[in-house]
Amino acid sequence: MLNQDHTQLDHEKYLSTSFANVRDGQYLRPQDTAKLLKELVWHCFELSRMTFGWMPPLEDYQLKIKLGRFGYLHAMHAKHLSKRIGELPGKIGAGDRTPQALRELYERGSLAPDAAAFFYSYAFLVRIFYDRVEELSQRLDDVLDAPTADILELLLMKKQEFLTTANQQYQFIPSKDEQQQQVFQEWKLYMSNLWAAYSTQHAWPPAPNIEPAGPVPPEGKLDPRFPHYSHKPEQYKKAYSDPAMSPLQESVKQMHYINATEMSAAESLGYLYYAVQNMPLAFYFDLARHLWDETRHFEMGVRRLLQLGYSLDQFQFFKSGPGKEVEESWYADMYASLTMIAEPCSFIKKRKASEAFWEFGDTLSAIHCEFDMVDERMHVDFGKRWGPELFKTLKNDMITAQKLSERARLIRLEYLDVPEEERQNIAKSFPAFCGFSTVDLNYSQY
Ligand SMILES: [Fe+2]
Ligand SMILES: [Fe+2]
Repeated sequence: MLNQDHTQLDHEKYLSTSFANVRDGQYLRPQDTAKLLKELVWHCFELSRMTFGWMPPLEDYQLKIKLGRFGYLHAMHAKHLSKRIGELPGKIGAGDRTPQALRELYERGSLAPDAAAFFYSYAFLVRIFYDRVEELSQRLDDVLDAPTADILELLLMKKQEFLTTANQQYQFIPSKDEQQQQVFQEWKLYMSNLWAAYSTQHAWPPAPNIEPAGPVPPEGKLDPRFPHYSHKPEQYKKAYSDPAMSPLQESVKQMHYINATEMSAAESLGYLYYAVQNMPLAFYFDLARHLWDETRHFEMGVRRLLQLGYSLDQFQFFKSGPGKEVEESWYADMYASLTMIAEPCSFIKKRKASEAFWEFGDTLSAIHCEFDMVDERMHVDFGKRWGPELFKTLKNDMITAQKLSERARLIRLEYLDVPEEERQNIAKSFPAFCGFSTVDLNYSQY
């Protein structure tokens, strides 16, 4: 083993090799470290996919928030690692992807029959990942590899939080009901078979004969505490125009309700994150941040409504997901309409709402809007940066950011039944377009 040139190791084969077999007892060369870190990047990336992909099938909104946070953290870990790899010989190229076997391990492990089984899979894979991190940490020299060691330490800070949260979701469930207990035991066995097949490069084991509940089901679930807005009368096509949705329609506090509906935006981005292949890692890093921000906006909206004495059953909320099998273009259009219509159009509302909240002496609500604007500005930039590239990838179609935004506006105006001859003109003027697309708030009423 010692005279083997490890810089030539086949990456795919390497992934099933234990750290202990590589240059045992020797200093790692920079290119060795880069290779070992690459494996960790793909683990982090797949962990972020599985967590985002499982937000829609969950019911408990607190757990959805947790997964939005965890998916972001896994993506940030991948970002830190890939930055370090870039400093070493062996950067991750724009065309590099998760090695197929590793991706399948995660995808198969994510097809869980229920939330408890999913969290078991998640904890199982998180543990495998952190075993790798710890093995690598022990191989590093504290002078030569200090910058790498610092990053691994950063990753390790979150280990317990991931594992404790996951563990709480299945720790006592198996004893509750016999059938679920059986399903759970079967799933546990399946996970260890899956891992054995991966690490010995054997054929994948057959999956248990139970319908998977996730990831990314055609339609996301709403927490039962959140009434569903299912009826969409023809006259209320403009966003948030139906008075049945919220008792705050005549108040500036409607802003909090709008925020509280943003879980559906977060989860829609989760569908995109899970489904779209062949985009560079930098896209997923931005998308992860975007997704988590929408999760935060949701959390801040819900928290404020409750603080102000409202209850969730006074409002109606949206589900996420396409609702059916969709063409790839659904993802590109959804991303364009979010970053080029909903988000830029929301600025005016947020600025005016913030000013009104300051006037009414509601400091916290005013600061909500200020943070919201900071985040949204970044999301609009993400859209300009990635929208055209996403279009090219998913629709096999070249388009400029300018054209894409115009196209998104025309689609929206068509949905709003604006006569064809007027659409072009309205789409050209941004403020006029936003006036058409959304209803304004009543800023003079608290
Ligand atoms: Fe938002
Ligand atoms: Fe946003």
